[in-house]
Amino acid sequence: MPEKGTEEIRQEITGGLLAPSMHIPSKYFYNREGSRLFKEITGLEEYYLSRTEKAILADNLPVLARSSRFGCVAELGNGDCSKISLLFGSMTAEKLEDINYVPVDISVSAIDGSVKVLQERFRELRIEGVVADFMTQLQLIPVSDHPALFCFFGSTLGNFEPFQRREFFHNLGASMQKGDMLLLGVDMVKDVGITENAYNDRQGVTAAFNKNILNSVNYFLHSDFDTKKFRHLAFYSEKFERIEMHLKALQDMEITSPFFDTPVFIKKGETIHTENSYKFRKEEFSDLSGDAGLALDETWSDRNSWFSVFRFRKK
Ligand code: AVI
Repeated sequence: MPEKGTEEIRQEITGGLLAPSMHIPSKYFYNREGSRLFKEITGLEEYYLSRTEKAILADNLPVLARSSRFGCVAELGNGDCSKISLLFGSMTAEKLEDINYVPVDISVSAIDGSVKVLQERFRELRIEGVVADFMTQLQLIPVSDHPALFCFFGSTLGNFEPFQRREFFHNLGASMQKGDMLLLGVDMVKDVGITENAYNDRQGVTAAFNKNILNSVNYFLHSDFDTKKFRHLAFYSEKFERIEMHLKALQDMEITSPFFDTPVFIKKGETIHTENSYKFRKEEFSDLSGDAGLALDETWSDRNSWFSVFRFRKK
């Protein structure tokens, strides 16, 4: 959950609700319940992304761990550390001693929770969590003598808009030194049915995750959204090659908040756009990485090419 001033947060959310096409920024999914639901999503049968990426990493990280020496491993949005453990688990104690592991997240609690477990398992590792927005504050990551490895897993890049993606690559490229590496895990363009199923699971966990964003809004705005008055919508847009998530109003309603000048009226059938989850093609990365001074030197995929982990090196 973003930890910035509440006034700024209120303005951001209110701005989205009053915009011609109503939207709520997807980062507001991740309150305590939202983070719990997302974790549940990653274990769902339909949500192939997490297990496919983990299998790719399990196949390839041991070789990388044995053939390289890193001074710093920076993980952007560290999650539960299970992916990075696949790297550290293949390293000798001597290699681990050299490494400063830097989990970077905008939420202190996300860093604290997972780091404890990791430190117990890998006692030789130095861990230095950085609370930062990895879109704009990458310079806060400490530099080291040995090359650094940056990891950005989970297809979180897919939740960035194209202009944010370019900005992210540009900023990351600028904070990398020659020889540093980036491992980027992204979900690929594939059969529409498989993609849509991943966001429309039978148990309704993704629906609950989507609706819970309204509880998060209620918390910040003291508003009175009722999640029962909305339906979860998730569909693939061929044009934008992305899953769009929306909340569709089941009836007319009036939303009040002490922070609104007048109530917000929502008509039956109107939708609130809550998330874009872009899917990728390999070609897209040559422009993005080239502009950032990075060269794509390795691609790891599953046998269906549903998910890929790209390895870039700073030139
Ligand atoms: C965090 N992010 C990569 C997930 C995704 O697939 O875009 C968030 C998510 N939304 C619905 N299900 C999962």
